[in-house]
Amino acid sequence: MSEPQRTVLICQSSSCLAHRGADVLAAFQGAELPAGVEVVPCDCLGQCNLAPNARVVPDEIWYCRLTPEDVPEIIQKHLEGGEPVTAKLHPRIHSHRLGFER
Ligand code: FES
Repeated sequence: MSEPQRTVLICQSSSCLAHRGADVLAAFQGAELPAGVEVVPCDCLGQCNLAPNARVVPDEIWYCRLTPEDVPEIIQKHLEGGEPVTAKLHPRIHSHRLGFER
């Protein structure tokens, strides 16, 4: 079996768990993922005010305010298609990508 090429880290710490972070993780774990993608629960990502959060590495794409309903689109557009889901990008981390860089 080959090494995963991409990892989706999903915060399972307090603020994210308080905002359905466990459901987001379960949605990823229950979905059919593209080859080379793994999903891993993780500790606090330091972005608690926008919980629940996920970080995709090595892409360094950060998603925030996730719901389980967001998961199919992230899988299809980003993990399969290579295009991050703009509506769920972390607004500060991806301010340049979102076009509101100061
Ligand atoms: S608790 Fe999830 S980012 Fe801090």
